[in-house]
Amino acid sequence: MKFFIDTANLDQIREAQALGILDGVTTNPSLMAKEGITGADNIKNHYKAICEIVDGDVSAEVIATDFEGMVKEGEELAALHSQIVVKLPMIADGVKACKYFSDKGIKTNVTLVFSAGQALLAAKAGATYVSPFIGRLDDISTDGLNLISEIRHIYDNYMFETEILAASVRHTMHVIDCAKIGADVMTGPLKAIEGLLKHPLTDSGLEKFLADYKKANETDSPEAPGVGF
Ligand code: E4P
Repeated sequence: MKFFIDTANLDQIREAQALGILDGVTTNPSLMAKEGITGADNIKNHYKAICEIVDGDVSAEVIATDFEGMVKEGEELAALHSQIVVKLPMIADGVKACKYFSDKGIKTNVTLVFSAGQALLAAKAGATYVSPFIGRLDDISTDGLNLISEIRHIYDNYMFETEILAASVRHTMHVIDCAKIGADVMTGPLKAIEGLLKHPLTDSGLEKFLADYKKANETDSPEAPGVGF
């Protein structure tokens, strides 16, 4: 499973990249606004800065909601860097734009997907990635992970190549459950990724190993009392 980080925060992207497990980045207009990145030029420069940090795909979302506007904006975004993936909303014009870009060999990520039917349309339009938002479904008492299972089932039935990008991941168990179901990619906050690291038996085990090493090596050391002369 590929790991994407869902943020526009450069420090967090650097931190995840430094761990050596990062495969890409997703952003959205809300995440850009959260970092105080405003204005078309600043936003474009920020995407370029993200691409310089990571090796993989970086989703850049269009603001336009009409076909012509999405095509114009998407082409500008794609021209910024070879790692840019054009992120398009799951609306009729977004599906048309997805088909347009996939025919041109430009990578796409169809976002704001909340049903299996929407995911089927995205695959038919040749999307590189489809982004079902599991956390937002959980927020309204609907099983987000079940949607990932449904899409996995449908895509496997027809061998669609569109990758399932589990989005709106909120915590570490979402990451593990998505991996069990077979999502191709997950995108989530740094804390959801870092949560995978933690286990109290790892910490206590390491503490014991180090204490035992110290004890044994103090005794054997030529400098240790009672050893040597
Ligand atoms: C995906 O691409 C979105 O940016 C994101 O995962 C949304 O997550 P949220 O529901 O936590 O805002």
